[in-house]
Amino acid sequence: MKLQSIRGVKDILPNEIWKWQWVEFIAHKIFPRYGFKEIRIPIFEDTRLFSRSIGETTDIVEKEMYTFEDRGGDSITLRPEGTASVVRAYIEHKMYAPPSVTKMFYIGPMFRYERPQAGRLRQFYQIGVEAMGSPSPTVDVEVMTMLIEFFHELGIEDSKLQINSLGNHSCRPQYRKFLKLEIKKYLNQLCKNCINRYEKNPLRVLDCKVEQCKEVAKNLPKMIDHLDKTSEEHFKEVQKLLDIANTPYTINTNLVRGLDYYNMTTFEVTSENLGSQNAICGGGRYDTLVEELSGPSTPCFGFALGMERLVSLIPFKEGANPNNNSDIFLICLGETAKIPGFQAAHELRLAGFKVERDYEMASMKSQMRKANKSNCRFTLIIGESEVDSGKYVLKNMENSEQHKIDSKSLTSEIEKRAKLKG
Ligand code: HAM
Repeated sequence: MKLQSIRGVKDILPNEIWKWQWVEFIAHKIFPRYGFKEIRIPIFEDTRLFSRSIGETTDIVEKEMYTFEDRGGDSITLRPEGTASVVRAYIEHKMYAPPSVTKMFYIGPMFRYERPQAGRLRQFYQIGVEAMGSPSPTVDVEVMTMLIEFFHELGIEDSKLQINSLGNHSCRPQYRKFLKLEIKKYLNQLCKNCINRYEKNPLRVLDCKVEQCKEVAKNLPKMIDHLDKTSEEHFKEVQKLLDIANTPYTINTNLVRGLDYYNMTTFEVTSENLGSQNAICGGGRYDTLVEELSGPSTPCFGFALGMERLVSLIPFKEGANPNNNSDIFLICLGETAKIPGFQAAHELRLAGFKVERDYEMASMKSQMRKANKSNCRFTLIIGESEVDSGKYVLKNMENSEQHKIDSKSLTSEIEKRAKLKG
């Protein structure tokens, strides 16, 4: 039997991991400027956490969760997203009274049993941020502009920000009722999925991707035309601040998001270069979730972006992989060189050099071939005569110059030469 990775689950190989590390490095650089600190949340949680926060009637909870009973008989779920866990941690550790808003970010794998296709995986990675403790539209805009700055720093210029408002608990229920009545008029034109879910989740009809539903959605009432005063002012302020920050956006009245906890501002960032799964990032305001999970009233705003999609958009330069090259390739020839070679590699690695070597003690020709392939800057050659004389041979692979260097001052000699260009 040939064992392979599971459908929709991908290895990130050593020759591409540097791209991921670069993205994570930039996140660690940009997000703290806005006050975000990293949190590491568990990979699995009590199933009820997700069903209660994401919503019983959402696609994620209804059909995409990896849920299983553990050996103790408890229902466990591999996290399909990070927000629920961050909220749980916030309540559990009583992070309520910070000097300012509590701001956290997380990086890690999420699990959803979706139909795999390009850009859609069953294990995928997210970078997410959650700002907890303020209803201010300034928070919404700070977080969105932070995201756009993050994209710019990564060299992504084609992303598009779309925003919408879903109103709050004083205006959404009436709108939902009205929307349901309106949807009823078009039932025979909707896809099966929408016919089944419109009673429980009528807003999802608005962002159904099926062509015939898209046509119907054009005629359905829009949430932003039914906002109460607070929601309307909030949404206006968000737009004003985005304008002040020179952040381009469009209003997409059908942007409702696939998770139930949102209210007021929702947003997505898309890219035309992603194909059908074109959302790089999604997020919004969720002002009641903390309370619904038995915490104190805490208005929040956050987003999560898909790392596979993001990495595929970054214009990395050919040969930019900083992990590709070793500094020194060690060539050892003959039994006598075995221990001195081992010691030299150890000493140079402790001094901070990336040292690669051959372990088979093959011929000079074959080891030199490997040295060339490793793209190293120097080759250190230790054979019988080098051990006898205490002088090792250092070959500069860029200009082929060779120097004899004292084995007792190996590190300082190589450091000196590494600083010289060429
Ligand atoms: P989401 O829209 O479900 O939001 O996911 C955010 C992003 O994760 C998507 O825009 C997409 O880039 C990526 N993503 C989602 N599913 C997949 C998949 N199957 N394969 C590859 N990438 C995927 C959330 O998860 C919310 N927790 C965001 C949030 C945080 N809202 C407030 N705070």
